[in-house]
Amino acid sequence: MHLREVRLVSGLVLGAFLLTHFGNHALGLVSVEAMERARQIFNLVWRNPLGTILLYGSLVLHFALSLEALFRRRTLRMPLKEAAQLAFGLSLPFLLIPHVVGTRIEFALTGRDSAYPEVVRGLWLVAPDNGVRQAVALVLAWLHGCLGIYFWLRTKRWFPGWAIPLYTGAVLVPVLALLGFAEAGKEIASEPGRFPPASQPPVGADLLGEIRAYLYGGFTVLILLALAARGIRSYRTMARRVRVTYPGAKVVTIPRGFSVLEGSRMAGIPHQAVCGGRGRCSTCRVRILHGSEAQPAATAQELATLKRIKAGPDIRLACQLRPTHDLSVVPILSVGRARLMDVMIGHSTTGGRERDLAVLFCDLRGFTRLTEHRLPFDTVFILNRYFEVVGHAVENSGGFLDKFIGDGALALFGLTAAPEEAARQSFDAALRIIEGVERLNQAYASELDQPLRVVVALHAGPAVVGEMGYGQAVGLTAVGDTLNAASRLETMAKELGADIVMSVEVAHRARLDLAGHEQQTVTVRGRAAPIDAWIVYQARDLMRTPERSPSGTS
Ligand code: FES
Repeated sequence: MHLREVRLVSGLVLGAFLLTHFGNHALGLVSVEAMERARQIFNLVWRNPLGTILLYGSLVLHFALSLEALFRRRTLRMPLKEAAQLAFGLSLPFLLIPHVVGTRIEFALTGRDSAYPEVVRGLWLVAPDNGVRQAVALVLAWLHGCLGIYFWLRTKRWFPGWAIPLYTGAVLVPVLALLGFAEAGKEIASEPGRFPPASQPPVGADLLGEIRAYLYGGFTVLILLALAARGIRSYRTMARRVRVTYPGAKVVTIPRGFSVLEGSRMAGIPHQAVCGGRGRCSTCRVRILHGSEAQPAATAQELATLKRIKAGPDIRLACQLRPTHDLSVVPILSVGRARLMDVMIGHSTTGGRERDLAVLFCDLRGFTRLTEHRLPFDTVFILNRYFEVVGHAVENSGGFLDKFIGDGALALFGLTAAPEEAARQSFDAALRIIEGVERLNQAYASELDQPLRVVVALHAGPAVVGEMGYGQAVGLTAVGDTLNAASRLETMAKELGADIVMSVEVAHRARLDLAGHEQQTVTVRGRAAPIDAWIVYQARDLMRTPERSPSGTS
């Protein structure tokens, strides 16, 4: 069994305990007697030898695994939900010690079993501050458990359909428990004759006090030890560092032993991690462009997840890959575009900003004719393979896929890269798209009446970038004369039957030598100056050109 399964099972046992405990409290809404009767059943389940071992074994294991997770994390930068789960988990022992000592340990030492009326009276009437602390402890324990279950289940396909009932249950259970407890408190206070104080006085108060102090001290020492071990490890690994290169030539230097996901978080690079880095969801996956050979092999857990999603050999989970040598990666799934934009151009997107971009338009030629005798399912299948090719090409070249328009696409380069770098990236993406479509033609030769043919247009210049749209249809995009011109070049490519038409400006910025190719001047409606453009009829010629630089990062 993997550690994560041990954590899950022990957490589920503790969750079951909390659920029954809360259920017992909630019966206070019926009567104190109902609470007390249910407590007998509760004790039968949790105070028999098996229940005791299961409960306290899970408690110890779960806490030990929290310390292990605290030690294993190379950075304490993490999303709020994960931080909350960790903080709740580590604070729980301190909040629960008085309750556990006052009920379970006292019972184990003295055989004195405090009934509900006595416990409720103590917490509601005698020491209400203690009662508030217990309530906070139980709610935090519940939140910790709910977050754990959320991280576990949210990747399941059926989860969205069950989310509302589950959230409702997660809120109702502690609310009903607290209401039940308060109702019982009021009932006991209003009828002191019906619930007389226990005749047997509390036993061994000093001893219980000592046990409490030892437990507080013990848990504090354990947490400090885990933090100290992290400190020692960080000190030792500080000297050995590796460079992780992200799209846009952004380089992050991380100590050896950090995962790629931790590197992204250290650098504030948005990176999907739905399961919180547990190697289950695969949303953090990255494509490795360079340096994969020297990296440590995937663990059995990572392999299992990669196999489940049928990942290619160049895909790794960023949360599991702890690089030992320099590498360059492309995160596959994008985070919210607004956040991405914030990082890419370093400011809020809503106001817009002018950037010097390289723009790529591509389109499938004659796709409408191609779909005439096909089932809609086949058309969607082929289109999705083509979109995959375009998406990979743009991402692997360091660009930003703006949108798909019918069977065409628009991609932007230069949100973070310099104009020259952006031009090289756009050219690289164009060749990757054409190569990818050729591979599609080979793979589906028997399915296609005629091969797919894609045309690509590239242009560079200033454009206004920002979040535009309305309601659900808001997204990062660019507008301006540069895009109109690029779109015109794409039309020209279709008319001429060329693979690529690129403005002289792009070729100049990318330092491409296109001597021997045709050049034409094209006018663009609404634009005073015409554009000089290179016409590349056969992109295959350029693929052999040594100047081509992969993704513009080398
Ligand atoms: S974050 Fe879920 S697999 Fe990496």
